[in-house]
Amino acid sequence: MSFIAINDLVKKLINKSEPKKNNLKNGKIYVKIKRQDDINSKPYYQEFLIPYKEHMNVIMILMYIRENPVDIDGNEVKPVAFEASCLEEVCGSCTMVINGKPRQACSTLIDNLEQPIIIEPLSKFKVIRDLIVDRSKMFEGLKKVRAWVDIDGTYDKGPGPTYSQEIQQIRYSLSRCMTCGACLEVCPQYNDITNFVGPYALAQAYLFNLHPISKNFEKHRLNYLISKEGIANCGNAQLCVQVCPKSIPITDAIAELNNSITKYLLSLLTR
Ligand code: SF4
Ligand code: FES
Repeated sequence: MSFIAINDLVKKLINKSEPKKNNLKNGKIYVKIKRQDDINSKPYYQEFLIPYKEHMNVIMILMYIRENPVDIDGNEVKPVAFEASCLEEVCGSCTMVINGKPRQACSTLIDNLEQPIIIEPLSKFKVIRDLIVDRSKMFEGLKKVRAWVDIDGTYDKGPGPTYSQEIQQIRYSLSRCMTCGACLEVCPQYNDITNFVGPYALAQAYLFNLHPISKNFEKHRLNYLISKEGIANCGNAQLCVQVCPKSIPITDAIAELNNSITKYLLSLLTR
């Protein structure tokens, strides 16, 4: 079984164990939201009751509150700020912590959640307001591993180099990362003490090392990955693969990178 299939299987098993309870409060959905008015203010919780409809997702709850910003006690409150774009688990912008687990609000169904539904912003980023966080450090991480294919012009340079179906399959599985930040939320090693770049960036480094053109910068990536922000910070907790909504084979990528780093360091010693 390929490692892509194994990751999909793990994800299915996790979803199967999700509680399927719908304990409504007087026929309404009971929601607690962690709020923060701006980047410098203190967080607080607010509770809401939302009329239940079949097949609702968490985004529908937040949209309802935006149109009816009234808390459980009938007080008018500020509408809850949140981000969303694709509404089909592709952009990652709606990622938040729902009942203690990082997930996409657009693909998380109310019927699969225990109540009260507790909605919080991702904790590993600065909160800008309510559920909106500043994930720009993820893009800084992608820059550090040169997560792109260099081109030297916009003109047609003819067909690029070909590579095997097997590599295509691995690259496709890695390319589905949407920089949602879920893997960082659960990674015990991703914190201000370690300065670890994080699992998603390692997976992207491997993705671009496998590309026939971008492979030219493999040495640059490996040099970064042996720095204090790099791969040695990984404690192999493997929580990243459990929460990744796109089943990115992160730990397999880390193992492959470790192999490449060992070979690279040996080559330096024997030069
Ligand atoms: S590796 Fe998975 S969990 Fe991490 S940012 Fe990419 S899609 Fe999200
Ligand atoms: S809105 Fe794009 S992933 Fe949810």
